[in-house]
Amino acid sequence: MDRIVVTGGAALNGQIPISGAKNACLTLMPAALLSEEPLTLTNVPRLSDISTMTELLESLGCEVASLQGGRVLAIGTAKISNHTAHYDIVRKMRASIGVLGPMLARDGEAVVSLPGGCAIGARPVDIHLSGFEALGAVLDLRDGYIHATAPKGLIGTTYELPFASVGATENLLSAATLAKGTTVLKNVAREPEIVDLAKCLRAMGAQIEGEGTSTLTIQGVDRLGGATHQVVTDRIELGTYMLAPVITGGKVELLGGRRDLVSAFSDKLEAAGAIIEETPNSLIVSRKGDIIHPVNIKTEVHPGFPTDLQAQMMALLTLADGTSVLEETIFENRFMHAPELIRMGADIEVHGGHATVKGVKSLKGAPVMATDLRASISLIMAGMVAEGETVVTRVYHLDRGYEHVVRKLSACGANIERISE
Ligand code: UD1
Repeated sequence: MDRIVVTGGAALNGQIPISGAKNACLTLMPAALLSEEPLTLTNVPRLSDISTMTELLESLGCEVASLQGGRVLAIGTAKISNHTAHYDIVRKMRASIGVLGPMLARDGEAVVSLPGGCAIGARPVDIHLSGFEALGAVLDLRDGYIHATAPKGLIGTTYELPFASVGATENLLSAATLAKGTTVLKNVAREPEIVDLAKCLRAMGAQIEGEGTSTLTIQGVDRLGGATHQVVTDRIELGTYMLAPVITGGKVELLGGRRDLVSAFSDKLEAAGAIIEETPNSLIVSRKGDIIHPVNIKTEVHPGFPTDLQAQMMALLTLADGTSVLEETIFENRFMHAPELIRMGADIEVHGGHATVKGVKSLKGAPVMATDLRASISLIMAGMVAEGETVVTRVYHLDRGYEHVVRKLSACGANIERISE
């Protein structure tokens, strides 16, 4: 198994290009199932999760052409030849549930394996399911699969999500584009990836209002056409690399970065001691002086502080001049990076959904294990400032969501290498 070796101490200076958003891509790709005409996505990141979604779409009968080295995907779905998303693929990636809505909306049938639990919590799909029932689908859960049918098509309705789930909002929005009549979805998620999905669906001919607010109104149409759509910037990769020069010192320009994608995070990063400058096409980040200030964080749905940047923020705050409290409200088991950071000398106590981080003077390199995607990058952030060598194992988690992490960081002066076995 590959590992990443980081030797701490180098300040970061240079430019990092930010890729297209993995999470946007994982909901845009299934949207291709809604139309007989091709959907072309540009600015696609080259990640293992994108390969997994490609494999899933191909298993359903899509033709996926990967162009420009994977930067562009052209997805044609003349016909959905198989309506079952098998366990073998779904278990690898929870976002697979996103094919359910488009298949059900187009053909009135879909069978999708239940995703099951995952490392960062139970993550049920009950909101997706009750939303589809509200749209008139008949659901039957058996043999570990969701069997969904809508023989007369989905019917527009008003449905209020009990929680603003990102995945459920995306699934229901996509499906409602082909429902009969008007669908009003209330208490929806407002993440930039949902705004991006709405933009793409509109380019395909959908009638949608309200993206970026908590109510979506969708006027169903008979069919959708093809489109070409550029995937939005990855705000989590952006936030991660904004944090890098604050932990190591130095100055980094994040190409393609926009503050409106990471507002709540930027406010906290500034409170911790970052200087963030905006240019027309980038953000430039450096640290004000040598001190990292403690800050309290509470993860929330957008536009609150994103749960996907909590682990990285914890790595930074281990070196703060005082005590910070991090509260995780989105996932029930998302502090698995804490024990690994403790092995590097951090002082962290976890009680339920709260982590109390007392700043220490320095971290020490250690062998550590990546437990999930965002946890693994937090260990690399910590390794870049720790004394000596940090060896991160299970780096396949990183390959799911960070494109060319070693190349991007070493171009700015980090001592980081990947060792393949
Ligand atoms: C998406 C992101 C993930 C991010 C998360 C929250 C993708 C591919 N992934 O995940 O990176 O961390 O948003 O910003 O876009 N829940 C239910 N029932 C449901 C659905 C969700 O109880 O039917 C719960 C989950 O267990 C979790 C919380 O709601 O505790 C948030 O989940 P959700 O917003 O759906 O996240 P994902 O779409 O899975």
